[in-house]
Amino acid sequence: MQDVTNRAFMEVIAHYGAPDYFFTEFFRVHSQSRIEKHILQSIVENRTGRPIFAQLIGENIPDLRRAARELQAYPIAGIDLNLGCPAPKVYKKNVGGGLLRDPAKIDDLLGALRDAISGLFTVKMRLGFADTSHYEHILGLVNKHSIDLLSVHGRTVREMYRSEVHYDFIALAVRAVRCPVLANGNITSADKAAAVLTETGAAGIMFGRHAIRNPWIFSQTREKLSGRIPTPVTLAEVREYIDRLYRATLVPGIPEKIHVARMKKYLNFVGPSVDADGAFLHEMRRAPTEARLFAVCDRHLLREPARIFSAEPHPGVIARPNCEAPSGPSSQNRVTA
Ligand SMILES: Cc1cc2nc3c(=O)[nH]c(=O)nc-3n(C[C@H](O)[C@H](O)[C@H](O)COP(=O)(O)O)c2cc1C
Repeated sequence: MQDVTNRAFMEVIAHYGAPDYFFTEFFRVHSQSRIEKHILQSIVENRTGRPIFAQLIGENIPDLRRAARELQAYPIAGIDLNLGCPAPKVYKKNVGGGLLRDPAKIDDLLGALRDAISGLFTVKMRLGFADTSHYEHILGLVNKHSIDLLSVHGRTVREMYRSEVHYDFIALAVRAVRCPVLANGNITSADKAAAVLTETGAAGIMFGRHAIRNPWIFSQTREKLSGRIPTPVTLAEVREYIDRLYRATLVPGIPEKIHVARMKKYLNFVGPSVDADGAFLHEMRRAPTEARLFAVCDRHLLREPARIFSAEPHPGVIARPNCEAPSGPSSQNRVTA
């Protein structure tokens, strides 16, 4: 995840029980692009003990082939192509989710990249741009170009992060493609992961935002899938996680204000499990300094330290109202902070 899945974040996640694989945030690829050093750092300084796929976003074939070749000199698990990013400034350049409008272009891209990648070549996609009319055709291209792993976020680009996730379309991909499929989208807990695996027949789960909210989600899912009850997490443990994340992501010399602002981006995702009223989110977003931020954390997480951190986000407590509120920023149900 862009601005999230950096080296420090992955190490913090690994502390609580790493996933089988990580994916980097996307490397932007265009005629002027160079391998972005801060993303590369997550690969060359990987201390998680788990392999990392390098994700690319772009549309120009020679540039993508160049980036793929360069990245293969580093210790990566494989190359992943982003066919899903829904940000307008991204899809308007016909990259990420924008490419889903043009299956002929995807055909060319997958063919050219398959040829340039000697190891694993994986794809992350949504169901389509405005609708799912090209979906099955694109799944056919995944087979045609012998893609090694397909991650499907079960929404169209237009659905952003707001709609229900269409797990039936992920099940369709599982039936259609020869490679393993990872199910992605709103998989909020170990229980939900188990249910989605049953519903879709997917080979695995890709967790995004809910790993920021609950970094124990990987170990809890392993417990669930091996027939055990997922170990609950207390508010005191969440307070410790926030402290660890704050220290791990601290860059020497960075002004406190900037680090506090970055930390709030992570805490936006943690908030939906802290309290049902969204009071933590409301207060956290207003804290101007490290001391005030941690005072808010202490107030909400250490008053009843043994209380269980909700495994599921509280309904209506929204991490990013502009992106995730069901009917846009004017939704009545969201927590306005
Ligand atoms: C802040 C943020 C950054 C993201 N960056 C990327 C990215 O760089 N590459 C990608 O494939 N998906 C990215 N995503 C999408 C997630 O990988 C995932 O598909 C989506 O959030 C749905 O899954 P979830 O409900 O588990 O979060 C990003 C999502 C968020 C919230």
